[in-house]
Amino acid sequence: MLRGSIVKSRSFLLLLIISLFVFMLSGCGADNQTSVTPTPEPSTPPTPTPTPEPSPETSDSGSNKPKGPVYEPIGSSLAEAYADYFLIGTIYTPNTLVDPERSLVIEQFNCITPENIMKPESMQPSEGYFAFTLPDAMLKFAEENNIKVIGHTLVWHQQSGRFLGQTSDREKAIEQLRNHITNVVGNYKGRIMAWDVVNEAVKDGAPLPADGDWTKCLRETQWLRSIGPDYIEMAFRFAHEADPDAKLYYNDYNMNDEDKAKVVHAMVKDLRAKGVPIHGIGMQGHYDTNVSIESVEKSIKMFSELGVEVSITELDISVNDASVSKSLTEEQEVRQAIVYAKLFKLFKQYKDNIVRVTFWGTIDSKSWRRDKFPCLFRNDYTPKEAYYAILDPEKYLAEHGVAEE
Ligand code: XIL
Repeated sequence: MLRGSIVKSRSFLLLLIISLFVFMLSGCGADNQTSVTPTPEPSTPPTPTPTPEPSPETSDSGSNKPKGPVYEPIGSSLAEAYADYFLIGTIYTPNTLVDPERSLVIEQFNCITPENIMKPESMQPSEGYFAFTLPDAMLKFAEENNIKVIGHTLVWHQQSGRFLGQTSDREKAIEQLRNHITNVVGNYKGRIMAWDVVNEAVKDGAPLPADGDWTKCLRETQWLRSIGPDYIEMAFRFAHEADPDAKLYYNDYNMNDEDKAKVVHAMVKDLRAKGVPIHGIGMQGHYDTNVSIESVEKSIKMFSELGVEVSITELDISVNDASVSKSLTEEQEVRQAIVYAKLFKLFKQYKDNIVRVTFWGTIDSKSWRRDKFPCLFRNDYTPKEAYYAILDPEKYLAEHGVAEE
């Protein structure tokens, strides 16, 4: 009897500890939800971060044979195909260190952007404490494999924890901004080719007013509230002081929207006239298969005329009529591939201005928009039609009877 109830209460205690542990891991519910709200891109609602796959150490007991999919070298490389044009990148997560993703990334790409591990809340999880371990492993992998690294991101309204900019004391907020940027950028001085210094600072649906004052079009963020519009120029100046050789970018989505593009154009022009060290504009490029290629071209042209670098920083093309429960039909895969081909044909024409094109995801099932199959590789790491379309866009378009535009 007594033994039975001891066993029972022990199991209950164990259950309680496990639940508590799981609860803590999940970021204590509400807290996590407020800090990791996905980007408000109106047309396609984003989905949460894909769960990392277990590493072979934990999934493979003893045998050296990898379980699950293997990356079979394709024999062609996107990075090589575009060597004379621009860099070709993809996202990095800790899973990138593990095959099959590792081999795929090494064969196909020559630069990486951390999907989440360098966001403010990851770099400075509590005030004054900086977490360099995961980015250090990324840098080591990149340097060993001759892959360039983009820092993403320093100043954002999301994934930025509960203290950064969350004060009504302006001086304190400036100090937080300086401290975060100086520590993060300074720590990787000379090792990061470019930083997305400020991310998504411009509101949607706010055209540039007649007086040209772009500060009226800024998104209501913790930084705008605590510091005012000049948080933007401060961020660029702090980053430049910490690493004078890194290229510094303003990065945003919906940049093919003419109204938004005009605001960003006015902002960058104004900042540069004031001597603010801003060297590039990142067009994220979260498109779908209905994207107007003409609208993308207009913005690339407009930004290039400012004399700054332009990069496509987070490219993915959602198949707008994809259904989560089914895989893509052949028609959908080809339709997506044609849009990719048209975009790359355009990017090639602007090779003097475009420094890099980075995909926001490698295989569909790990994409933040995995329900819309936006990537170049299937879940088994084999290339989709889009891969071949990008490898030689002109040929792909000709083979699919897409007329010259
Ligand atoms: C996304 C990541 O892909 C997700 O894993 C995360 O849950 C939310 O953020 N614009 C950006 C990226 O600048 O940082 C976002 O990445 C996608 C939109």
